Amino acid sequence: MARRTCRVSVVLLGALLLGAARLLRGTEASEIALPQGSGITVRIRLASPGLPSKPSCYIIMARQHVIELLVKPGERKSITFSCSNPEKYFVLEIEKNIDCMSGPCPFGEVKLQPSTSELPTLNRTFIWDVRAHKSIGLELQFSAPRLRQIGPGESCTDGVTHSISGRIDATEVKIGIFCSNGTVSRIKMQEGVKMALHLPWFHPRNVSGFSIANRSSIKRLCIIESVFEGEGSATLMSANYPGGFPEDELMTWQFIIPAHLRASVSFLNFNVSNCERKEERVEYYIPGSTTNPEVFKLEDKQPGNMAGNFNLSLQGCDQDAQSPGILRLQFQVLVQRPQNESNKTYMIDLSQERTMSLTIEPRQTKQGRRFVPGCFVCLESRICSTNVTLTAGSKHKISFLCDDLTRLWVNAEKTLSCLDYGYCSRKPYLLQVPADILQLPIQLHDFSWKLLVPKDRLSLRLVPAQKLQQHTHERACNTSLGYRVLSTSPSQDLYFGSFCPGGSIEQIQVKQNATVTLRTFAPNFQQEVSRQVLTVFFIPYFKEEGIFTVTPDTKNKIYLRTPNWDRGLPALSSVSWNISVPSDQVACLTFFKERTGVVCQSGRAFMIIQEQRTRMEEIFSLEEEVLPKPSFHRHSFWVNISNCSPVSGKQLDLLFWVTLTPRTVDLAVIIGAVGGGALLLFALGLIICFVKKRKKKVNKGPAVGIYNGNINTQIPQPQKFQKGRKDNDSHVYAVIDDTMVYGHLLEDSGQSFLQPEVDTYRPFQGAMGDCPPSPPPIFFRTPTAKFAADEPAPSSPPESENEPYTFSHPNKGEVGNRETDIPLLNTQGPVEPEE
Ligand SMILES: *[C@@H]1O[C@H](CO)[C@@H](O)[C@H](O)[C@H]1NC(C)=O
Ligand SMILES: *[C@@H]1O[C@H](CO)[C@@H](O)[C@H](O)[C@H]1NC(C)=O
Ligand SMILES: *[C@@H]1O[C@H](CO)[C@@H](O)[C@H](O)[C@H]1NC(C)=O
Ligand SMILES: *[C@@H]1O[C@H](CO)[C@@H](O)[C@H](O)[C@H]1NC(C)=O
Ligand SMILES: *[C@@H]1O[C@H](CO)[C@@H](O)[C@H](O)[C@H]1NC(C)=O
Ligand SMILES: *[C@@H]1O[C@H](CO)[C@@H](O)[C@H](O)[C@H]1NC(C)=O
Ligand SMILES: *[C@@H]1O[C@H](CO)[C@@H](O)[C@H](O)[C@H]1NC(C)=O
Ligand SMILES: *[C@@H]1O[C@H](CO)[C@@H](O)[C@H](O)[C@H]1NC(C)=O
Ligand SMILES: *[C@@H]1O[C@H](CO)[C@@H](O)[C@H](O)[C@H]1NC(C)=O
Ligand SMILES: *[C@@H]1O[C@H](CO)[C@@H](O)[C@H](O)[C@H]1NC(C)=O
Ligand SMILES: *[C@@H]1O[C@H](CO)[C@@H](O)[C@H](O)[C@H]1NC(C)=O
Ligand SMILES: *[C@@H]1O[C@H](CO)[C@@H](O)[C@H](O)[C@H]1NC(C)=O
Repeated sequence: MARRTCRVSVVLLGALLLGAARLLRGTEASEIALPQGSGITVRIRLASPGLPSKPSCYIIMARQHVIELLVKPGERKSITFSCSNPEKYFVLEIEKNIDCMSGPCPFGEVKLQPSTSELPTLNRTFIWDVRAHKSIGLELQFSAPRLRQIGPGESCTDGVTHSISGRIDATEVKIGIFCSNGTVSRIKMQEGVKMALHLPWFHPRNVSGFSIANRSSIKRLCIIESVFEGEGSATLMSANYPGGFPEDELMTWQFIIPAHLRASVSFLNFNVSNCERKEERVEYYIPGSTTNPEVFKLEDKQPGNMAGNFNLSLQGCDQDAQSPGILRLQFQVLVQRPQNESNKTYMIDLSQERTMSLTIEPRQTKQGRRFVPGCFVCLESRICSTNVTLTAGSKHKISFLCDDLTRLWVNAEKTLSCLDYGYCSRKPYLLQVPADILQLPIQLHDFSWKLLVPKDRLSLRLVPAQKLQQHTHERACNTSLGYRVLSTSPSQDLYFGSFCPGGSIEQIQVKQNATVTLRTFAPNFQQEVSRQVLTVFFIPYFKEEGIFTVTPDTKNKIYLRTPNWDRGLPALSSVSWNISVPSDQVACLTFFKERTGVVCQSGRAFMIIQEQRTRMEEIFSLEEEVLPKPSFHRHSFWVNISNCSPVSGKQLDLLFWVTLTPRTVDLAVIIGAVGGGALLLFALGLIICFVKKRKKKVNKGPAVGIYNGNINTQIPQPQKFQKGRKDNDSHVYAVIDDTMVYGHLLEDSGQSFLQPEVDTYRPFQGAMGDCPPSPPPIFFRTPTAKFAADEPAPSSPPESENEPYTFSHPNKGEVGNRETDIPLLNTQGPVEPEE
């Protein structure tokens, strides 16, 4: 429709001008005057010289009939024609030489000189021949209308053409012929440029439509820039097309594409020459590609669906002198709306958030040299990039320009800090993924909550809606999502493990700052994520690294592992498991290995198994002894594991499992299940139990119950946790409560991250809830397998310089006497009712 209108108006204009021009035509005289030093020459000649032996029309100048006229600078000539329609026979050529080698170059807008109204009404061709040094780049800039390149045999509907050529040494190189309705906005060349603007005699155009600018060297034959303002296409050709591209040359096309559109390149015609050296190729710079420049052979399928500006270069080769062949290329760039993806926009409202940030980024995949089309996230459909971070405090409108949305994922991070116990202890905080994120058509990869508490004042309790299973080799998580729990401290991070819904872990308590990361593994996580919520409570500080509360309710084995699995439990740290045994069941505790393999440099590594009801303890040295054989527990019990400072490479890591058997089951069945050895042990255990005196532990309050996370090497790599964001926002820890800002307090703490850890380890000094087992005094050796700890358990073990690893058993009543800093609110600790 528009095209037709355009053509009609061109014809109409032509007709109008015809009328106007008639006044000047024929016998009307015209005067051509060229100023001295203008560098302009005007030539009038027959359009098809020599065809008619006797021309039907002559130029009449000073009463003479001539068929060719040349006007030089400084001359003035007055002419008429012998016929009334000289435009049929004669053409005008107005040539201007611009020499930038010898004098200043007149840059800027180029004028039509002499003005078209002073010239006879003939087809006219204005030629500008600019010569410059090889090192100077010349840029032709076309204001609207921009140019459209035409191929051999094509013509422009309005008859206006631009023929552009350049020069390599003395040889002219044709860049192309262009009409006035296209995308080419700039052409850069080097060493000189020749531009011929052909205007038919009836065309009203009285401006050149371009300007020339001075640029630095472009180091190639030419650069052609095309600007697309909407959907459309452009066909472009290599220099000299359909002739051969100059040997060993380089030519570049740049494309400016609106953000919401995509470009595809297809080669319509090409030939390659016989290369002696180097290879003929095309190279692309594509936004979002990690392997720029993308190199293609001309025979290859060319890239499509590119978002953003790109450029394309054609590189020739050293041709075989005998049989050079011919390199040429005609290609099309098609710009259109994304074909295969939603044009939907998604609103992500972070205006109520203060400490959350969200990054949409390309998922890490190994990328070969193979071309991959661009995949972008656009803000407000305008600014597109491959990696977008949305910050808290505002609403974000995003859309996707991507052929395959599975190439993207979302990572989010939120900081919850509690610096005022009195305030945040009162409410639970839900770790929940906002619905705005779940609605996105891309996978949620990680959602990390950074939980921050003041040092030595508060700890964390994580309570999942559904009990968790620890991911281990033996029982791998197969759910669509899981949590990774990392305890963070300036000196070292402790990876508690990876956990997924559907197990027996009821709580995880973490001594200090922690990062909990929800990671998804399968697309169906959406359903699961709504069921699985983690609640965090800020609780009084305790001294162990962690405490796991395990309440088995299944006959399946429950596998549990020490934190930091492969790398070993950190030196001088301690973790506990509070394992409940239902009243009608018997639990069997089994260790995976016979020995731990730990070798201590200083301190001691040991394990305490304490029955919660009777408080009977068994203490095992983990250094030289064999680990206990499977043992049966009729009542809830603690497992506490404390590490020494191990020799490197001889770390402490333990895997154990718990199984339940109904109490009513005949002893024989158990024996059958566990084996003869176990029977012996069981019997032995019973005997020991009988022999043991009941411990009177009423005063022996606080041991530190620690629940420890296991590390599993499997699913997620612990390193992923280090994926810290560098942007400032993530360092601004806001407080959970919107009305309180503790940022200033936190700023200072940043420095402590640089300080070396100087604390000595003093486990079990905290006055916490009740029962986790109390470790033995430091000097106490346990050379034999089992030991009932109720005998010598001095409450104030001697401390010595070389044994910083000490334990104390503060009386419940004495809480706070010695460690004023510890119990903020000791009464709030988990208290197990004493049996
Ligand atoms: C003048 O230009 C028009 C359009 O380019 C063309 O069709 C016509 O043949 C030209 N006339 C002469 C005499 O060259
Ligand atoms: C320019 O004009 C030609 C001839 O009328 C037409 O075929 C082409 O589609 C036009 N191009 C644009 C970009 O308008
Ligand atoms: C070109 O023509 C237009 C009208 O058609 C006129 O307004 C303008 O001044 C002219 N420009 C020159 C440089 O002659
Ligand atoms: C063109 O620009 C170059 C630097 O880009 C400069 O050295 C040179 O003098 C300029 N030439 C003219 C004629 O302005
Ligand atoms: C150019 O390539 C085409 C096939 O793409 C082939 O048919 C043609 O013969 C080649 N021309 C020359 C001159 O090599
Ligand atoms: C092509 O694009 C790349 C990346 O945008 C840019 O570094 C390079 O200068 C461009 N080359 C040309 C000749 O435009
Ligand atoms: C869109 O792309 C997907 C693959 O990314 C393909 O399976 C689907 O058929 C495409 N749809 C259309 C309409 O092209
Ligand atoms: C999305 O595309 C469809 C079809 O191309 C169109 O009907 C719809 O209006 C577009 N929606 C938006 C929000 O642009
Ligand atoms: C995305 O940007 C963030 C922050 O600028 C950066 O940490 C991350 O590595 C980037 N991701 C990719 C895949 O480039
Ligand atoms: C936990 O983080 C807060 C805030 O960054 C800091 O003040 C505190 O010292 C950290 N706690 C530990 C044990 O590093
Ligand atoms: C996951 O593993 C459990 C046993 O650990 C099994 O019962 C369940 O069917 C598995 N689910 C899937 C989806 O494989
Ligand atoms: C141990 O676990 C049981 C069962 O969940 C719980 O009732 C008890 O309070 C826990 N003890 C401690 C000290 O956390």
